[in-house]
Amino acid sequence: MVERCVCHDVSFSRVAELARSGQTLEQISEQTGCCTGCGTCEPYVRVVIATGRTRLPVMTERQAAEVVAQAEAWKRSGGDRDKSAQ
Ligand code: FES
Repeated sequence: MVERCVCHDVSFSRVAELARSGQTLEQISEQTGCCTGCGTCEPYVRVVIATGRTRLPVMTERQAAEVVAQAEAWKRSGGDRDKSAQ
């Protein structure tokens, strides 16, 4: 499982916390340093921001982009509103 930016020792739990507070990828990256080293974590960080998940399987960049696209489509369809109404 992938759970952190190794270069800057930033947990994806911290990334998710910042995303929940409304910060963008750029703001999170600036604040924590994640995605500014080798860049390997960037596709994963995008998934964390889109889904809130903090323990991710090893994925290709393309697979991560597909997960982000699915999560964003789900949000656009009102999926997150349905969940909060339960
Ligand atoms: S693992 Fe995050 S920048 Fe290298």
